[in-house]
Amino acid sequence: MNILKFRNEEDFAQTGANLIASLLQSNPKAVLGLATGSSPVGVYAKLVEMHRKGNVSFAKASSYNLDEYVGLPVDHPQSYRSFMNEHLFNHVDIDRARTHVPNGNAAELAAECLAYDKMLEDNGPVDLQILGIGSNGHIGFNEPDASLTSGTHVVDLLEETLEANARFFDRLEDVPRQAVTMGIGGILKARQIVLLVRGEEKAEAVKNALEGPITTQCPASLLQSHPNVVVLLDEGAAKWL
Ligand code: GLP
Repeated sequence: MNILKFRNEEDFAQTGANLIASLLQSNPKAVLGLATGSSPVGVYAKLVEMHRKGNVSFAKASSYNLDEYVGLPVDHPQSYRSFMNEHLFNHVDIDRARTHVPNGNAAELAAECLAYDKMLEDNGPVDLQILGIGSNGHIGFNEPDASLTSGTHVVDLLEETLEANARFFDRLEDVPRQAVTMGIGGILKARQIVLLVRGEEKAEAVKNALEGPITTQCPASLLQSHPNVVVLLDEGAAKWL
């Protein structure tokens, strides 16, 4: 694992953006694995800026997002599709038809999950997977548990995740209680993983993930088994390393 610590936001975001931009420069048809959450926001903003200056193009790229809430209308401001539109897709030249976010409103969610994995199987592997981490060590929405699921699946969100994500909704009761998420097996198939973490409230999860035992009780610890992981941390997130 290549662990990089940053003192300022600007360098953190620019380094993340450069990793994606240089991949797209060498492989314009790259398959990107994208994530939501506050940690990647600055990286997406830098990519938008680089695109505006003509330094990066997404025209031939495709993207697969990690997860989506179940039952939230796709145009709801907190849907992960809306997040991606707002922070990246609306501002770059990516072909919308090649952007994929799991459909949390599918009538048959199990079939939607299988179809998502089939698409990844046919069009993957993901060249670069952006990841964040939950304060309980989740990646995507793979919550700590006695066992983890390999493929894309529907998950019941833990109380702590509902509480952590309540800041984006008017009331805790408005946070969807389920999500569709790529599974750990799917995530680990990416050729390269870039884990982005900001904030002291993530410091313990980061320590457990990077230095603790590999355990399903900290899903991000499974990243230790991947051969090509870059971790970008701000000072708060790196506090316990
Ligand atoms: C949500 C997402 C995760 C993300 C996490 C951390 O739970 N499902 O994929 O990693 O938030 O978000 P943040 O970057 O805001 O800390």
